[in-house]
Amino acid sequence: MSQPFQGVGLGFRIAIAEELVERLPREIDFVEIHPENYMRRGGRFPYLLERAREHYPVGTHGLTMCFGSPSPFEDEYLRDLRRFLDDLEITTHSDHLCFGGAHGVFLHDLLPIPFDEQSAKLVTQRIDEASNALGRPIAFENVSYYSPQHPDGLAEADFIAEIAKRTGARILLDVNNIFVNSRNFHFDPVEFLRRIPRESVVQYHLAGHRVRDDGLRIDTHGEPVADEVFALLDVALEIVGVRPILLERDNDLPPLDELLMEVRAIRTILEPHLDSRKIENPGRAAFER
Ligand SMILES: [Fe+2]
Repeated sequence: MSQPFQGVGLGFRIAIAEELVERLPREIDFVEIHPENYMRRGGRFPYLLERAREHYPVGTHGLTMCFGSPSPFEDEYLRDLRRFLDDLEITTHSDHLCFGGAHGVFLHDLLPIPFDEQSAKLVTQRIDEASNALGRPIAFENVSYYSPQHPDGLAEADFIAEIAKRTGARILLDVNNIFVNSRNFHFDPVEFLRRIPRESVVQYHLAGHRVRDDGLRIDTHGEPVADEVFALLDVALEIVGVRPILLERDNDLPPLDELLMEVRAIRTILEPHLDSRKIENPGRAAFER
């Protein structure tokens, strides 16, 4: 498929992949994969991905580049990733604005970074390096965090804006992460959205989170999307604009039909915003293939 992807997509996870390529649900406009699950392997994984590609545009969202980590990238990984993205004809690849390890230790978690000048310099240099090595633009995604950051919580939005300005990179806005952080650290998620440079945003992510007994919200990707997060998506579509929206579900995957119900709920929120006056710069807005 050659058109840029628009609309609503679903994370292409192996637990639902077979059923998805059999049924080819029309609710879904695109799928997104973690390259780490498909690179350097043969058999069922690349086979299912190939089948998905026959029918859906595919986006790629990495888990290992961690733009706030001080360790240098592995050359071999970047080389293999570039080849993989070339094969899939990916124009923009995304990964996270986080810390993931140091001194050769990879923590397998997306940990927060301080929103200060030292981090800004490191992240800028790493995004530039990744973009050059992969030969394509990068989008970076905001993460959820559980350690206190700047007291008003909005420093993150300003940090994101600064990184976008310094690197020219694109922003993948995770609406659930904004909401989770705003509740845990008591800031206004709408004000956060207002501080994000809308022209840099290329995609939204939406996922579920859990509320612990003590009230702390944990980004799990293991439950349905919360009503408040759907409501914040509606606000984001108004303030930032219409962009492709991906439903991420990584843990406790329910039957595909349940995920499709959530996809339909997202479509219902998106529909009133699909006024041609609001879709500006669609070529830039979408991740093209
Ligand atoms: Fe996300």
